[in-house]
Amino acid sequence: MKKKIIFSGIQPTGNLHIGNYLGAVKNWVDLQNSGEYDCYFSVVDYHSLTGDMSAHDRHDQIIRTAVELIAAGIDPEKSTLFIQSHVAEHTELAWIFNTITPMAELERMTQFKDKSARQEKNINAGLFTYPALMSADILLYHANHIPVGEDQIQHVELARSTARWFNNKYGEYFTEPEALITEVPRVKSLLEPTKKMSKSLGAGHVIEISDSPEVILKKMKKAVTASEGGDASVGVENLLLLLKHFGLEKQYKEYAAAQKDGSIRYGDLKQDLSEVIADHFSSFREKREELLSHHDAIADHLFAGAKKAQAVAQKTMEDVRKMVGLR
Ligand code: AMP
Ligand code: TRP
Repeated sequence: MKKKIIFSGIQPTGNLHIGNYLGAVKNWVDLQNSGEYDCYFSVVDYHSLTGDMSAHDRHDQIIRTAVELIAAGIDPEKSTLFIQSHVAEHTELAWIFNTITPMAELERMTQFKDKSARQEKNINAGLFTYPALMSADILLYHANHIPVGEDQIQHVELARSTARWFNNKYGEYFTEPEALITEVPRVKSLLEPTKKMSKSLGAGHVIEISDSPEVILKKMKKAVTASEGGDASVGVENLLLLLKHFGLEKQYKEYAAAQKDGSIRYGDLKQDLSEVIADHFSSFREKREELLSHHDAIADHLFAGAKKAQAVAQKTMEDVRKMVGLR
């Protein structure tokens, strides 16, 4: 029986943080290791062109992101791991999708609104049509399940609509994908826990999975728990959620009970939480260091991944070109 297809992507915009990890990447590794799916994971460098980043930083970060995914457990022998721009069909299909996507649908996208507010001086057309490219990523491989964090659900819904718009206009062809969400679809910022943890808020807001134990503790100490600005309980809930996933069950239960009866000591919670997070990623940190010094081997894996992805993408594009009347 043909396996169901998984596709997901991550932008090469910074080191992986615990939000990416709990919301998406951990799930990718679990899905891959279940052996039940045909998995595609992509470092979506074309998407990253819509943001503010220098060419030099982007170039560095593309390989670093691939390294971090491998160190976190994505196995290039089991999954098709590739760099989006190595498979040019992504942009070709995105263009076709641009021509069937109503402007009004794109105008509803909350990520577009958020990012436009954050990069006021760079509200480019690519930022606006970004979801059409994401639909192309997904539909090129006829993916069934898309493991993502909560912030991407709206885009996956748009990919479902894109499949329908295409099928209605040109004939039944694409399958509608579905988002797969983890138990922690939205990890919050340490400093502003009403917002999602995101690199774009600033370094102190996120814990990178490559952070040293000292850095983790330093950032954790500044995490909002006290009742400033009404964020208090959201902040504590976020830390408890992290403890639930990185710590021992007993430890989590004790702190959760202490939080309820008011005896909780935030300093202790932060200390313990920092330790369990640092421990959880100790082998990741070692593997990452090792891989960063073996660029050639990584490049080989990515080249092989792109070849595998391209074979599928080319077939889809041959069909699509015919269906829309270009061939
Ligand atoms: P990005 O770094 O924006 O490309 O995101 C990569 C993946 O991580 C996507 O599936 C996001 O939905 C997910 N993600 C990013 N930030 C968070 C967060 N704070 N909590 C949960 N998932 C997240
Ligand atoms: N837009 C996603 C993000 O910012 C990344 C992404 C691009 C993606 N293409 C995708 C995720 C296709 C899932 C499927 O996180």
